[in-house]
Amino acid sequence: MSLAYYKRFRMVFDLQRAIIAPPVLPEGYAWTPWERGQEDRHALVKFHSFRDEIDAEVFECLGDYHGCYQLMKDIALQPGFLPEATWLITVPGPAGSMGYEDCGTIQGVTVSETTGCIQNVGIAPAHRGQGLGRALVERCLIGFQSAGMKRVTLEVTATNTAAVELYRHVGFQVTRTLFRQIDLEYSAVL
Ligand SMILES: CC(C)(COP(=O)(O)OP(=O)(O)OC[C@H]1O[C@@H](n2cnc3c(N)ncnc32)[C@H](O)[C@@H]1OP(=O)(O)O)[C@@H](O)C(=O)NCCC(=O)NCCS
Repeated sequence: MSLAYYKRFRMVFDLQRAIIAPPVLPEGYAWTPWERGQEDRHALVKFHSFRDEIDAEVFECLGDYHGCYQLMKDIALQPGFLPEATWLITVPGPAGSMGYEDCGTIQGVTVSETTGCIQNVGIAPAHRGQGLGRALVERCLIGFQSAGMKRVTLEVTATNTAAVELYRHVGFQVTRTLFRQIDLEYSAVL
């Protein structure tokens, strides 16, 4: 057995005193609210966003489209799944194509009457650094606030600087440090 330990932060956002302005997306980008049957769209963005990142080591399913699809199905089936906190960001497809491309995903679930939890936020690599990640998190927080939540939690891998900085800049604070144990031989989360 070959074990690895990943340091993770639990972060919390206090919604009670927060006034969050509806985020505005850069030109060309649009919000797509959750609709039933969209698991495949969220899964594809999740896969593109996570496959080369540290969290695909911590959670093997994030490095594989089918793993992302199963994860999305599981999230959408949770009793606390919150459509108002679950969004895609969509952009027109490449020149000449008739379609669209999803480039950002976030999902929210409630874990008690007062607490929401962000599941995964991901922006496809070609679309990073334009404020889309921040916009997704803020849109999700507004969804939790409208559902009456008082706080929102999440977990993030400590070495995932982009994500830690994103959450800090939005206003999350670290409340706990956790260590997640992985058996590298089986790549399973224990
Ligand atoms: C984390 C992630 C969502 C950020 O998306 P993004 O659209 O590039 O982020 P934004 O452009 O909205 O940046 C938000 C803030 O984070 C900061 N930030 C983003 N990337 C950063 C980096 N690599 N280093 C330091 N700070 C960074 C920005 O300075 C910005 O601050 P500001 O809003 O005060 O200007 C994206 O990198 C990603 O999808 N990563 C892989 C998936 C992942 O790990 N998700 C998190 C799981 S917990």
